[in-house]
Amino acid sequence: MDLKQYVTVVEDWPKEGISFKDITTIMDNGKAYKYATDQIVEYAKKVGAELIVGPEARGFITGCPVAYALEIGFAPVRKPGKLPREVISADYGLEYGKDTLTMHKDAVKPGQKVLIVDDLLATGGTVAAAIQLIEELGGEVVGCAFLIELEELNGRDKIKGHDIFTLMKY
Ligand code: PRP
Repeated sequence: MDLKQYVTVVEDWPKEGISFKDITTIMDNGKAYKYATDQIVEYAKKVGAELIVGPEARGFITGCPVAYALEIGFAPVRKPGKLPREVISADYGLEYGKDTLTMHKDAVKPGQKVLIVDDLLATGGTVAAAIQLIEELGGEVVGCAFLIELEELNGRDKIKGHDIFTLMKY
């Protein structure tokens, strides 16, 4: 299946000059959503994932069906103030300033093999922060899977040494 035909490219959104890749038109098509999920499930089996971690919010809709299909757990990475129990935090750089991501302290078991799943690899800041959180909790990041990679932003360089799987490149 050519998954790109289900991505809607929206020019000049959210601001001028940005060519936004809208994946909701993958998710609202049952066959495309299943196909995309199945590809990541196969990759997850190959790397031996025992837990899926996904950053909010699009990492949830991309990662949760993978966890369901494999009958393994899913742990969310969230922005500050969203998780009710004790958390650890990681800062990551934005174009201007910084942002923070959090995970529950007991979300990853020591030695657990973790696959990070998100819709998009752009600058790599989000996935780098997720890796930092997972490793601080003693997890082993066995791979990072994305629907889309924006190659010109060189997100890969931020997570050198980690295995990366992407379904579409722009
Ligand atoms: C988007 C996307 C990734 C991240 C990728 O999330 O879903 O998580 O940006 O960008 P990066 O590689 O430059 O870090 P966003 O922060 O827009 O949140 P959302 O999923 O809640 O819309």
